[in-house]
Amino acid sequence: PPARPLAGRSAIVTSGPTHEPIDPVRYIANRSSGRQGHAIAEALRDAGASVTLVSGPVSLPDPDGMVVRHVETAGQMLGAVEAALPADVAVFVAAVADWRVATESSRKIKKTGEGAPALALAENPDILATIGHHAERPGLVIGFAAETDDLLENARSKLARKGADAILANDVSPAGGVMGGADNTIRLVTAEGVEDWPTLAKSAAAKRLAAWIAARLGRKGSA
Ligand code: C5P
Repeated sequence: PPARPLAGRSAIVTSGPTHEPIDPVRYIANRSSGRQGHAIAEALRDAGASVTLVSGPVSLPDPDGMVVRHVETAGQMLGAVEAALPADVAVFVAAVADWRVATESSRKIKKTGEGAPALALAENPDILATIGHHAERPGLVIGFAAETDDLLENARSKLARKGADAILANDVSPAGGVMGGADNTIRLVTAEGVEDWPTLAKSAAAKRLAAWIAARLGRKGSA
């Protein structure tokens, strides 16, 4: 296969968690190191794509050779993704917080000695679902499903509901050590069926995904 099968193609990748502020010092977040998302952005770059990486707060360095947009909240992440359209492929790896605090306090919430404050939550936008049904939808839209139970069933329902072409399902039960770890065991779910990948280093899983994307898109201009 060609060394740079994604030359001339553009890609958007989301990575990391989002932080949803409660007040100036506190936030709600998901667990995510950003390792898998950043590795996918790097693999797409290495395959020749022009990559925009939209990253929530992570402790990883910005990868070279791509545009990196830093965001904090889900709302900002959606805005940065939409600003990066159009693209040939989008891969949604970020662990986006499902909820934000309905009304962020501009001041630090004080302990009153009269019990804990009640936090009203509001639903965040689903970035994958928004882009999966977008007027400028990329030709290939890929999401992740990190599950502890009913992996395939949940992945299949996400495919349809979110308008994705593929869902990479992985088991994040604590015993597997996927969260923050170096390896990932992926089942790639499409409308056509399920492809079971062996346990791979996150960088190797990323390379395999980049190759899958290249095969799926075909050579630029040859379609
Ligand atoms: O529904 P669930 O959070 O399990 O879906 C996971 C997939 O959806 C991932 O690809 C994730 O990046 C994406 N997602 C998103 N915006 C959200 C929630 C999830 O893009 N608000």
